[in-house]
Amino acid sequence: MSIIPVVISTWSFGLKANVAAWEVLGAGGSALDAVERGATVIEIDPTLASVGIGGDPNAEGVVELDGAIADGRTGSVGSVVGLRRVATPTAVARRVMERTPHLMLAGEGAQQFARAQGFPEQALLTDAACQRWLEWRVKTHRGPEGHDTIGVIARDANGDLAAACTTSGVSWKLPGRVSDSALVGCGLYADNEAGAAVATGLGEVIARVCGSFLIVERMRRGESPQDACEEAVRRILKMHPSHSDHGVPIRASFLAMDRDGQVGAASVRPGFQYAICRDGTHELLDGKAMIEDREA
Ligand code: GLY
Repeated sequence: MSIIPVVISTWSFGLKANVAAWEVLGAGGSALDAVERGATVIEIDPTLASVGIGGDPNAEGVVELDGAIADGRTGSVGSVVGLRRVATPTAVARRVMERTPHLMLAGEGAQQFARAQGFPEQALLTDAACQRWLEWRVKTHRGPEGHDTIGVIARDANGDLAAACTTSGVSWKLPGRVSDSALVGCGLYADNEAGAAVATGLGEVIARVCGSFLIVERMRRGESPQDACEEAVRRILKMHPSHSDHGVPIRASFLAMDRDGQVGAASVRPGFQYAICRDGTHELLDGKAMIEDREA
């Protein structure tokens, strides 16, 4: 029986990611190439405030990007954190995975590696993002805000799975803050034998439960992607009964696919959407919210 390729991505901008990923999958390409392509088109879109160029900067006005990619065939992962001046952390992460013996490169080392690999350097702070940062600086209460990471999962015609996750991190974060998106098992995980998962939201709470690893391990034991995603959200809620973390209302969402291409999506709060493309048909769907409170 032929395997139907499928790609899923977080949020409504996932539709754009999926169109790009489908160009790869529909032509018989690999899940790994598809998730890289899908994540990259979002990273290089300067109008999006939470990923790549145009992303919100840290508290000092500097854009620092995190990104990772995972290959379900081998369990290989590459990631970069605190990457400056290079707009495409997912592609750099893939080079880390494929061309170094390492899993993660950080900060200046990640930038040096990207430069050596021929990635172009450019200013990542757009005028619009700079304006948002200037407005934040004059606020009385200056907590971190915003974290609409893109996570992409694909299954190709061979049945191989891959995942990518990329973000500029919470807006106005402390310099050097690392998101869940680049942490294997937290923002993403992929294993052909069980499934793949990605996360979006407040990285600190996602990382505390190793959300993506938890979901994939539950799918390995036979749980549906939907039930596994809901359990990861429940773990977060149990650990944070006030539904906030350091005074910040929690937003966290998970998206998963099992090895058969079945999909699940769950979120702490209402409003989480994800895009799906199955065999070339694109849709935007709602993830299941586990609490009714929209505040966030
Ligand atoms: N999930 C993205 C972040 O926490 O920065």
